[in-house]
Amino acid sequence: MSRPPVTGSTRLAGVIGSPVRHSLSPAIHNAGFDECGLDWVYVALEVSSGSAAAALEGMRAFGIAGLSVTMPHKDAVHDFVDERSLAAERMRAVNCVQLVDGRLIGHNTDGDGFVDSLRLDAGVDPSGLSVVVLGAGGAARSVIEALARAGAAGIAVVNRTEARAVEAASLGGKVGRSGTLADIARADLVVNATSVGLGTEEMPIGGDRLRSGQVVADLVYHPLDTALLRAARFAGARALDGLGMLVHQAGRQFELWTGTPAPIAAMRAAAEAELERRRL
Ligand SMILES: NC(=O)c1ccc[n+]([C@@H]2O[C@H](COP(=O)([O-])OP(=O)(O)OC[C@H]3O[C@@H](n4cnc5c(N)ncnc54)[C@H](OP(=O)(O)O)[C@@H]3O)[C@@H](O)[C@H]2O)c1
Repeated sequence: MSRPPVTGSTRLAGVIGSPVRHSLSPAIHNAGFDECGLDWVYVALEVSSGSAAAALEGMRAFGIAGLSVTMPHKDAVHDFVDERSLAAERMRAVNCVQLVDGRLIGHNTDGDGFVDSLRLDAGVDPSGLSVVVLGAGGAARSVIEALARAGAAGIAVVNRTEARAVEAASLGGKVGRSGTLADIARADLVVNATSVGLGTEEMPIGGDRLRSGQVVADLVYHPLDTALLRAARFAGARALDGLGMLVHQAGRQFELWTGTPAPIAAMRAAAEAELERRRL
C-alpha cells in the first residue's frame, strides 16, 4: 500500500534529538505508515540540549500524536511527562512519548525492542539464560533491565569503568551483578552494548573468548555485520545484528501511537535501504 496524500487530517509523529539529521527513524516509521496505508507522517526535529520541556509543551499544543526521543533528551523527558511506563520508570529515561487526551505518557521501548529481536529474529527466549552484557551506558542499561524482566537467570555486566558496571547491574535486580571477561566462557548470550565497533573494525573482546552454542548480539548496527559478529560465526556461535533492536523498538512505538500491528519486515527493509543509500 502507499500513503494517502498529506491533508488537513494527517497525523504527525517525529523524533526529537540533537543531532538528529542522521536518524534512521523517519525511514523506518514512514515505511510502516506506508505499508499500513495510515495517514501519518514522521519527521526529524532538531531540539537543542535544555529545550526538551519546551518541545513537549509544543507536542501538547500541536497535538503531535507521538514522539521518539533520542540523545540528549531521554533523561529530561522522563522528568516532564505526566505518566511513565514501568520500563521508563526503572530506567529513569524515556525514548517514546504518546499524547493521550492531552496527557503525555512516557515509555522506554529500547530494552523490549532488544528482547523482541532476540525472540523474533534469532528465535531465542531469554528466560533462564546466563548473559554477559559488555558496556554500562544507556543501551546496556535498557538491555539489562528488559532481560531481567524477561526472566534471564543471571546478567554479568562487564565494563571498562567498573563503577558504572555496578550501577547498571543494579537494574537487573536479583539477577544482575558486575562481572569479568572470564564470565563469557559460561554465558549463553553475550551482548555488545559498548560503542566499540561503531564505524570501525575493532572488537570489544577477543574472538577466542566466544564458543559454539552461544548467541552473540551486537547493538552496533553501523556496520551491520561487525567484526565481532564475524568472529562469533567463526567460533560457531549465532550472530544477531543491532538493526533488529532498532526496528523492534520502533515497532513498539508505532503500535503505541497507531494501535496497529507494526509491519516489522517493511520497517526493517526501509532501514537496510537507508543504510545502503548512505554507504554508496
Ligand atoms: N541497536 C540499537 O537499537 C541501539 C540503541 C542504542 C544504542 N546502540 C548502540 O549501542 C552502543 C552504545 O550506546 P550507548 O548509548 O549506550 O552509549 P554510551 O552511553 O556512550 O555508552 C558507551 C559504552 O561503551 C563503553 N566504551 C566506549 N568506548 C570504549 C572502549 N574504547 N573500550 C571499552 N569500552 C568502551 C563505555 O564504557 P565506559 O563506561 O567505561 O565509558 C560505555 O559502557 C553504540 O554503538 C550505539 O550505537 C544501538
